[in-house]
Amino acid sequence: MKVVLLENIHPLAAEAFRRAGFEVDARPGSLSEHELSDVLQGVSLLGIRSNTTITRNVLEAGKDLLAVGCFCIGTNQVDLGDAAERGVAVFNAPFSNTRSVVELVLAEILALARRLPEKTQRMHDGVWDKSAKGSHEIRGRTLGIVGYGNIGTQLSNVAEAVGLRVIFYDTADRLAHGNARRVATLEDLLAQADVVSLHVDGRPGNAGLFGADQFALMKPRSIFINASRGMVVDDAALRANILSGHLAGAAIDVFPIEPKAQGDPFESPLRGLDNVILTPHVGGSTEEAQLDIGDFVTGKLLGYLQNGTTALSVNFPEVLLPHLEGVTRLLLLHRNQPGAMAHVNSALADNGLNVEQQQLSTSGAMGYAVTDVRGPLTQAVVDQLRAMPEIVRVDVLPG
Ligand SMILES: NC(=O)c1ccc[n+]([C@@H]2O[C@H](COP(=O)([O-])OP(=O)(O)OC[C@H]3O[C@@H](n4cnc5c(N)ncnc54)[C@H](O)[C@@H]3O)[C@@H](O)[C@H]2O)c1
Repeated sequence: MKVVLLENIHPLAAEAFRRAGFEVDARPGSLSEHELSDVLQGVSLLGIRSNTTITRNVLEAGKDLLAVGCFCIGTNQVDLGDAAERGVAVFNAPFSNTRSVVELVLAEILALARRLPEKTQRMHDGVWDKSAKGSHEIRGRTLGIVGYGNIGTQLSNVAEAVGLRVIFYDTADRLAHGNARRVATLEDLLAQADVVSLHVDGRPGNAGLFGADQFALMKPRSIFINASRGMVVDDAALRANILSGHLAGAAIDVFPIEPKAQGDPFESPLRGLDNVILTPHVGGSTEEAQLDIGDFVTGKLLGYLQNGTTALSVNFPEVLLPHLEGVTRLLLLHRNQPGAMAHVNSALADNGLNVEQQQLSTSGAMGYAVTDVRGPLTQAVVDQLRAMPEIVRVDVLPG
């Protein structure tokens, strides 16, 4: 089997695929739709990052594709629905850079509380300005986390370890970690927090979540951090609050409009402000995160090809069936309609095959069943299953 890895995916992925017996074609850049269509002939697995777009046309051309690995967090670049309908499973690495974001935010809280951006700039300008004014310890201060998901909860734990009191606000029910305390409304959080850090997801309703009204409710001389999504914050309102001195500082890693390519100019109303840290969307960009992403997504792709496991797939129903000795495993992707599995199971029984274990999961229009059978599985039986109108794809993993 052949795997194509694009966009400088961590070399450990290529090594793992070679060890598993794959022929590996690893390339540094992304490919256009047209180039991909040529390259994908005879390719079973494709690894991409965020700059390769997998359209309907690419999937149409990649007739042999079994799975796509997004070696990143986002999966917007893939037509997930079309991939599922064609029986192409898609995986990503949703948690691999969580810790990296948390460490950046912690560094920013400490740096802003001590006004380091300003102090280091003065020194580079040749000015010795030794003063304690406006510099604070963070011990005993209150951190307000908005969005208590993967990143928010991990920040909560790390922040408590350095002496911050943590409160959080989330629209969903979330278990409080450590001594963190949930507050009922965003307004409650803003009234109490010395540092407000946003970690909400990118659902459309979060556009413009934080503007002039929310900044006005923050405590005087508090600190604001956004490493979630650019569209969540009104940067012009943030600028006004820094200039007025209502906020003591801010750190922003994500922007409503971000430059597309390395070296492109960066425009923002936040440029040139004192005690404001601006970073080019690097919250999750560390060598450790890249390594973890390489390892995680490779594991998911191999788990799918070797065992049919779809746990954490972003477009397939999730199935994880334990390995059983001496059976043949059938991976059955089918339309989620009444009787689909009854037809499959009766065809297996009619052909003298005993179902030893089976796990079915459905999601929207698709169903996925991993079925271990004992008995003589002939090509004729596989062809019979493939000919069923409700079956999208059948793959066979020999015992
Ligand atoms: N800066 C970076 O490089 C970087 C890296 C990774 C992730 N991110 C971003 O960080 C954010 C958080 O990531 P995550 O993995 O923790 O996501 P997550 O889905 O695990 O958590 C998001 C949380 O926000 C909550 N939420 C959503 N809308 C809310 C609202 N309006 N008010 C309060 N709570 C709300 C959700 O209920 C959920 O608990 C995402 O937007 C992600 O894209 C940025």
